[in-house]
Amino acid sequence: MSRKISELRKEIDRLDFELLQLLDKRMEYAVCIGKEKVLAKSNIYCPKREQEILQRLKKNALKYLNHEAIDSIYREIFAFSRKLEKVEKVAFFDSASSFAYEVVAKKFGFVGKYLMMQDLASLFRAVQLGEVKYGVIPLENDSGIIKESCELLFKNEAKVIAEVILPLQYSFASNDEKIQNIKKIYLEKAIANQCRDFLKFYGFNEDKWVFVDSSVEVAKMVAKKKHTAIICSNMIARLHNIPIIFENIQDKNNQMRFVVISDFFSQKANKNKTSLLVAIKNKKRADVLLGLLEDIKKYKIGLIKIEEKEIDFFSHFYLELEGYFEDKNLQEFLRKRSKELKLLGSYPREL
Ligand code: PHB
Repeated sequence: MSRKISELRKEIDRLDFELLQLLDKRMEYAVCIGKEKVLAKSNIYCPKREQEILQRLKKNALKYLNHEAIDSIYREIFAFSRKLEKVEKVAFFDSASSFAYEVVAKKFGFVGKYLMMQDLASLFRAVQLGEVKYGVIPLENDSGIIKESCELLFKNEAKVIAEVILPLQYSFASNDEKIQNIKKIYLEKAIANQCRDFLKFYGFNEDKWVFVDSSVEVAKMVAKKKHTAIICSNMIARLHNIPIIFENIQDKNNQMRFVVISDFFSQKANKNKTSLLVAIKNKKRADVLLGLLEDIKKYKIGLIKIEEKEIDFFSHFYLELEGYFEDKNLQEFLRKRSKELKLLGSYPREL
């Protein structure tokens, strides 16, 4: 090793020592805050505070640490702080490709205490019974707001307290460096549909495809087996140490929106969003829609999204509005519509 490198490494070792001391000091403050929170019976997880810290740090442009780096480093710091303040469980439901786990790691860090649920209804039950403090659920995909999530939010008391927008990125991972050796590619049907150009370009024809229900379940096997590959989320490949040969192989960039649910209302942040459902009872849809839009205009509320959803055979409008539910204009709107409306939550706006 050159003298130069060993000198530079000494500097790094010295800085690491300082960093650890600083982080430890930071944790000490977090522990004190935790004690205060427990005394005041307030909630440990504070999406508003996390967003404020991240925004402030990102404003101080640094030479090497970009926004992505700040996000991932601070996620882990927050997660560890929270864990020291009080251990709280997070439940998630993974239908298939394990994006929910990616969201959980992005929002709560790798060191959290996680519980994977079999279905969305059990996840809501666990939150309702206090078996877990938080739940991460998918809310919106390419086709719009997800009906089952909407239905469960309507029927349960859990509140939406944060949102996470996740780009759906797939990787081609294999232990075989030579892609011509690969005989079988394990993938979900939906993923195959989203990576058609890639598969065609490399001549991975359908005779090599093996459809699976869940890439999470087969990843362990692919990690050990020769001449096989898997197409899955980057996180799954990394978790099972399957070398990623190609990244971001999807035909187009789709994204998914997840939300965090819990048993309390999120605090007001700089920019907020409010989600609610309005029942269309014994009236014409057009009349209800018109009335709603008139009220939104009258109370000067920003409209982000409106989508019709059927819940228990009854039509509803799912609405996303700008602002926090305690803002004056939103309060007036909510009061006026109180009989037909269910407030799902207000939370820091990510986009
Ligand atoms: C922290 O500053 O360590 C912190 C802030 C908010 C949280 C968790 C941790 O929700």
